[in-house]
Amino acid sequence: MLSNEVASQEVHTAFGGVVPELASRAHQQNIVPVIDRALKVANIKPTELNAIAFTNGPGLMGSLLVGTSFAKSLSLALNIPLVPVHHMHAHILAHLIEGAHKQEIGFPFLCLTVSGGHTQLVLVHGPKEMEVLGETIDDAVGEAFDKAAKIMGLPYPGGPHIDRLAKEGNPDFMTFGRSKVEGYNFSFSGMKTSFLYNLQKKVKADPDFLQDHLADVCASYQHALLDVLFTKLELAIKAYKIEHVAIAGGVSANSGLRNRLKEFGQRRNIEVYIPPFAYTTDNAAMIGIAGYYNYLAGEQTDLSVAASAKIKF
Ligand code: KG4
Ligand code: ZN
Repeated sequence: MLSNEVASQEVHTAFGGVVPELASRAHQQNIVPVIDRALKVANIKPTELNAIAFTNGPGLMGSLLVGTSFAKSLSLALNIPLVPVHHMHAHILAHLIEGAHKQEIGFPFLCLTVSGGHTQLVLVHGPKEMEVLGETIDDAVGEAFDKAAKIMGLPYPGGPHIDRLAKEGNPDFMTFGRSKVEGYNFSFSGMKTSFLYNLQKKVKADPDFLQDHLADVCASYQHALLDVLFTKLELAIKAYKIEHVAIAGGVSANSGLRNRLKEFGQRRNIEVYIPPFAYTTDNAAMIGIAGYYNYLAGEQTDLSVAASAKIKF
């Protein structure tokens, strides 16, 4: 891994969420400078590149279009292979980046993939062999973080703010309804509603409630979300006799989740893989490593490739 440059888009914070058109414009503006920077940091000339990997989905259409069009142009200009990557495969494969872990990664491992758009339990047999055991039937857990944060008036994205505040709070201060779904699937939309109603009730009784108990509210809500994740994780571990567990995606940056998984692993004698922070939220290195394995497997596409907001896993 020679460079991993990210162009952060402050525009989302200013608008309290992702405005798709503004996200596309920001991609358009940033894509050439960020690639220039990546090549400079890596000390690589464009003509030394062997292939270009890019994600064609799933994700936000406008942003995917910018990346896909750019990748096509670069492949045409340099006459190098064009390698498509599935966004969620990439989050998982970030664990295989050289130097990501001190220990060897053991297959099969169970990966809890948690981001702003997805919540999945994936059984990973190898870099190219993955099977989804369960996933959310409505909102992703990252959305559950972000929407609750918005209700509390915290900036976007709210996940990291809830994480920071939760460290100072009491996780048993308040209880929230835990959604129950069959098997290995998840549901989070009900929890967001339970959060809203619960909070409204408290604020009605005491207008200073949130101000006085912000950290406790964050800690309790985060605790409830993690409970839902761990209930399903434990279920799958038992059924599939899992010995290695990983977390991936933006929400795997959450310190509560990271600590709980570490303790869980020690208690149950299960090996856990916690990604370095740089590989949790969306990044280029994860697309690179997934592209590398696709390239080795001979997976290339041509200039007719299209971006797609929803792509089969
Ligand atoms: O993987 P990602 O960067 O983008 C998607 O593919 O969706 O994930 C973004 C999500 C957002 O919902 C953000 O709030 C959440 O990851 N996130 C966190 C933390 N850092 C990022 N959620 C909880 N705690 C964090 N520390
Ligand atoms: Zn992502």
